[in-house]
Amino acid sequence: MTAALTARTEFVAQPPLVSKSAKTYPTGFSTIQCFDFDAIDNAGFDRAHHIQKFGDALKADGFVAVKVTPVMQELIKDVYRVQEEFFKLPLEEKDRYYFPEKLGQTGYVPEKRETAAGKKFSDIKELVMVDPGFTTWPNAEFERVVKAYREAASEMAAKAMSFIADYLGENLEDPETIKSGPSHLLRCLYYRALTPLDPIGALRADAHGDLNCITLLPTATAPGLQLQEKDGITWRDVTVPEGYMIINSGRQLWRKTSGMFREVIHRVVNPDADQNVERMSVVFFGSWSSPFDLSPLESCVKKMTRGMSPEDKKNYLAQFPKVTVAENLEARVIELGYNTNPTEERLNELVKRGLVLDPPAELVKKYPKVFNPSEDPLDQVLTLREALNKA
Ligand SMILES: [Fe+2]
Repeated sequence: MTAALTARTEFVAQPPLVSKSAKTYPTGFSTIQCFDFDAIDNAGFDRAHHIQKFGDALKADGFVAVKVTPVMQELIKDVYRVQEEFFKLPLEEKDRYYFPEKLGQTGYVPEKRETAAGKKFSDIKELVMVDPGFTTWPNAEFERVVKAYREAASEMAAKAMSFIADYLGENLEDPETIKSGPSHLLRCLYYRALTPLDPIGALRADAHGDLNCITLLPTATAPGLQLQEKDGITWRDVTVPEGYMIINSGRQLWRKTSGMFREVIHRVVNPDADQNVERMSVVFFGSWSSPFDLSPLESCVKKMTRGMSPEDKKNYLAQFPKVTVAENLEARVIELGYNTNPTEERLNELVKRGLVLDPPAELVKKYPKVFNPSEDPLDQVLTLREALNKA
């Protein structure tokens, strides 16, 4: 057997957990509920009923599909075109847009740089992170197209977030502020075809939740996206009809609603060997603005803690501390392993407030006192004293 064939066999023999579902779906088939925002807006007296259905679906699955206009469809095609041109450039070219000191928050991010929070292997992907103040555009056409798409996506996110506010019966951030996009992030992602050298167990995008309020995700150029069901075990392929875009809920919404909406876990699994092609996607992270307070809404707290004992309520609400959008992002940059050198004092504060939920293993090793206070000899003495006092 040739070396290449041996390697190919190894690729096929990946454990079932990381193998893509081989299912193909009929055209027009959707594994999540579909909505049309224009129809909701024009529903007159039925609007509230439609908003209810939209919110219920997003709450249940964490994922919904939304119809997009033909203009938006053209924009998405354009984005994939300019992305492809960029990602096919030689690495030295792309590296001109890589700024490691910016901790992955702007510009090109090469492979092996991002590991999903708490995971062992880095994702098999490269990306361009377009932050709100982005200026290092690779070329004028990339800038024109991505800016146009970002504007259209901001408008759609503002609409979706205003529907969510209506669903909750709350005044949240002004849609015009959301539309202006002070904190939205956009990621152009490229997943190359896999090779036999890729570590077994590594995924195109390992299981993770999104940091933001809602994510807008056009159908990628190849399948692989899966959402995790509420049982925390089962995975569902996410496929939507042509002309629809995916929306999923993230950590900001989970925090603001004290867990009523999910920070839904999802991943991009690897292709089977006979469908091993590259994949592109463009992800728009719709966010409230940086100073926005993510403390949970009282109305949600009431619903989510109804029937709980005072002790259970206290423990449950400990997950939802007072935190701003900016702090939520700061903690995520640490979780993703971009910021490996936070000061111990700041890290300690973020951890104590429950903001760093999945720290990278290296960070836990580096700051044992922060993550395992009981390893502090003084703490151990105190614990021992406590035990003796009780005895
Ligand atoms: Fe994601």
